[in-house]
Amino acid sequence: MKKRVGILNSGGDCPGLNTVIDAIVKGLDAECEIIGFYRGYEGLLRGDYTPLDRNYTSANRWIGGTILKSVNKGNFPSRKGNDAFDSAEVELIEKAFKTYTDLDLDGLIVLGGDGTLYTAYRLQKFGFNIIAVPKSIDNDLECTDFTFGFHTAVEIANEAINRLHTTATSHDRVMILEVMGRTAGWIGLYAGIAGGANMILIPEIPFDYAKIIEFLDGRYSTGHTSAIIVTSEAAIPKDGSAIMHNWGSSSSNLNYGGTGESLAQFINQNTDYEARSTSLGHIQRGGSPNAFDKIISTQLGAYAAEMFKNGEFGKMAAYVNNQIKSVDLGSSVLSLKLVSADSQIVRLAKNVEISFGV
Ligand code: F6P
Repeated sequence: MKKRVGILNSGGDCPGLNTVIDAIVKGLDAECEIIGFYRGYEGLLRGDYTPLDRNYTSANRWIGGTILKSVNKGNFPSRKGNDAFDSAEVELIEKAFKTYTDLDLDGLIVLGGDGTLYTAYRLQKFGFNIIAVPKSIDNDLECTDFTFGFHTAVEIANEAINRLHTTATSHDRVMILEVMGRTAGWIGLYAGIAGGANMILIPEIPFDYAKIIEFLDGRYSTGHTSAIIVTSEAAIPKDGSAIMHNWGSSSSNLNYGGTGESLAQFINQNTDYEARSTSLGHIQRGGSPNAFDKIISTQLGAYAAEMFKNGEFGKMAAYVNNQIKSVDLGSSVLSLKLVSADSQIVRLAKNVEISFGV
């Protein structure tokens, strides 16, 4: 009898999701029945799913978004610090487990970022057979050098910075680009270096407003007439807090956003330089994966299929030193991978005159 496996993805959509799904299906369909749950864990709770076949997944493999749809904030809490299961969580997991056992599943492959994979880790502890695949434009998962989707986001941000250079130069302006990155500054750091930013602000290195003015004064006094600043949405001033937006009526609708606009206002009000801000928003998360993400998404999905065949549960497929391997799921989700202020990449960026606003 064929084994049965479920696939789900949750959290923000991400370039490469359909590529991973297709690679899993191609790796398993000869010996397994494969179903995909719609809208992540919501589909698992409601029993909302579809059989997956390679004709369908293959036709969609380079397309952005996800054929399984997604939700960012569902019934499962995004993160809990406590190791014990409380009654509300047990109730939810039992409901999901009923669907899992009713469908006679032998395993569940979960594609997600830190919140999604933390829930996957909880499900594994409860008795599910979980295999995880690291998805996120934010690149903030431990135990993998890169998550799929990150390089596409960086490429889109790089292209945006290239275009901002022309207005900066023509109008003698300070042009600010705000990029995504909840808690982690990887997109800002990589895109800023690639795009030739003069200043990069990331949450891991709280910035100093006085140093921003000092840096601009120094730059303009040496004959430059413009500057490019890339700020992560979650960048924080020293002794201050990050700026957030509320998109709805409850606090669970709170997202980062507005840092670039606020910085532009600060520069316009406190200096003689003219600043403008652009927020890249969901553009950096949309569309097809770039070549690198197509490659690692294909590899990660194909490897996750092998892990299922080998019964390697409670693990995540990871990209480490140019190889795909499996790593412990718990080690990947219990903390976030952040930029270290004294890492080589930050030090070398400073060597090429990129300021971090400190
Ligand atoms: O996918 C991660 C992320 O892109 C974060 O960088 C960002 O803060 C968040 O998602 C925004 O998500 P949404 O607006 O879809 O809730």
